[in-house]
Amino acid sequence: MATQVEHSGPAVNAPVAPGRLPLLGHALQLWRQPIAFLESLREHGDIVRLDIGTWPVHVLTSPEHVHAVLVQQAQRFGRGRIFDRLRPVFGNGIVTTDGEFHRKQRRMMQPAFHRNHITDYTEVMSRQAEAMSASWTAGREISMVTEARGYAMSSVAEMIFSGELSRPAVTEVHRSLPIVLEGMLVRALMPKALDRLPIPYNQRFDAAAGRLRRTIDEVIAQYSAEKGAEGHDLLSLLLSSVDAESGATMAAEQVRDEVLAIMLAGTETSATTLAWVFHELGRHPEVERRLHEEVDAVVGTRPVRADDIPELTYTNHVFQEALRLHSPLLFTRRALSPLTLGGVAIPEGAELAYSPYALHRDPALFRDPTVFDPDRWRQEGNERGRAQKYIPFGAGQHKCIGDSFAVTEILTAVASVASRWRLVPAPGVTVREVPAGIPQPSELPMIPVARH
Ligand code: HEM
Repeated sequence: MATQVEHSGPAVNAPVAPGRLPLLGHALQLWRQPIAFLESLREHGDIVRLDIGTWPVHVLTSPEHVHAVLVQQAQRFGRGRIFDRLRPVFGNGIVTTDGEFHRKQRRMMQPAFHRNHITDYTEVMSRQAEAMSASWTAGREISMVTEARGYAMSSVAEMIFSGELSRPAVTEVHRSLPIVLEGMLVRALMPKALDRLPIPYNQRFDAAAGRLRRTIDEVIAQYSAEKGAEGHDLLSLLLSSVDAESGATMAAEQVRDEVLAIMLAGTETSATTLAWVFHELGRHPEVERRLHEEVDAVVGTRPVRADDIPELTYTNHVFQEALRLHSPLLFTRRALSPLTLGGVAIPEGAELAYSPYALHRDPALFRDPTVFDPDRWRQEGNERGRAQKYIPFGAGQHKCIGDSFAVTEILTAVASVASRWRLVPAPGVTVREVPAGIPQPSELPMIPVARH
């Protein structure tokens, strides 16, 4: 694919997206209709410049350029502005760092996400999913957004700190994490100068982030004192992990930053995807019928087990399709040196961005891209090039470390719920997409109907 991004002839500047205003740039379009605006950029080229105020961003609209930046030439790029702005919240975990430091941290964290551990986590996820659906009453409306968030927070919290020692931490996660998650996108996009304004919004956000950080610090201190670092949860693994190359261990503060990063990166993403899966099932009764048939054959009415997951082929296609339609909106990178990409001159320090969301709705890449059709994954399963055009988890050295965790977590919940309930959309409600790190349903009231 490298040849497609190379280009002979003199480098030119990227075309500017239409509608730029003095000082504001494209801020109004982004503010009013961010999703439609990002999607419209592909009409203007493979690399399109937009200005957020006076901050220029080169948006990559073709899978080849995204692949070049994330994978082939990844060492030429740093994390970029969105991540810089999140560093005061996330700390210096793998989400916000790059270069050698990031590689070392990622090496040390990888074992916690190994398949063997994910098998262990499935048991916990299955228990959480059972508890969620046992709390429902036939005919009584639930908010699938709230339910999915509760499930995702419990799954991640149990992965990080299993055991009684950390009950207060799990409670604190449920209290403070939603506040931090809601404020994150605003923080990422608003000017830094506004962070310190003593307005209630900032105070609430800073207090919640502070509480989360303190809670994790307390649990780490307790784990270290009580030799809890022998368990199988992520916290124990991080506290006992030794870098194979340098022999280094992680300082307590670094462990805290990584734990926080996992919570922030791994909760809303999974929760939102799970909510969309049920939204799409509710709107597509034939898909729902086929999914129920598969779940009945593989799982029946017992709790979901780790060895069920690879058998849930159709359920997996439903998940992939829901995630294709409802993907993360935007991630940034920064050019560490000047370069030419597809004939376009990218100066040192320039910001680049890619949108899995816009890519996954490109009619040149997916036929009838707005149609929800899980069967497309049956045909496209092995198609060449899929790896580059379907990137809900990103690609390259910053590819989502929690991708297998997320797949297991979501399939476990879907199968567990589907073995008991049909979730019917509440009548008279129009579900809209609300822009966020991963666009969210505006609301998702559903009514559980018992299946057996
Ligand atoms: C459906 C659910 C999820 C989606 C769609 C998703 C998506 C992504 C994407 C696109 C990236 C790459 C961002 C970039 O290119 O800069 C990423 C990174 C990351 N994700 Fe996820 N994610 C999901 C679930 C999770 C879960 C469950 C966890 C942890 C338990 C997690 C932890 C992380 C971390 C730590 C990173 C940063 C990795 C690095 O920079 O080395 N994610 N995720």
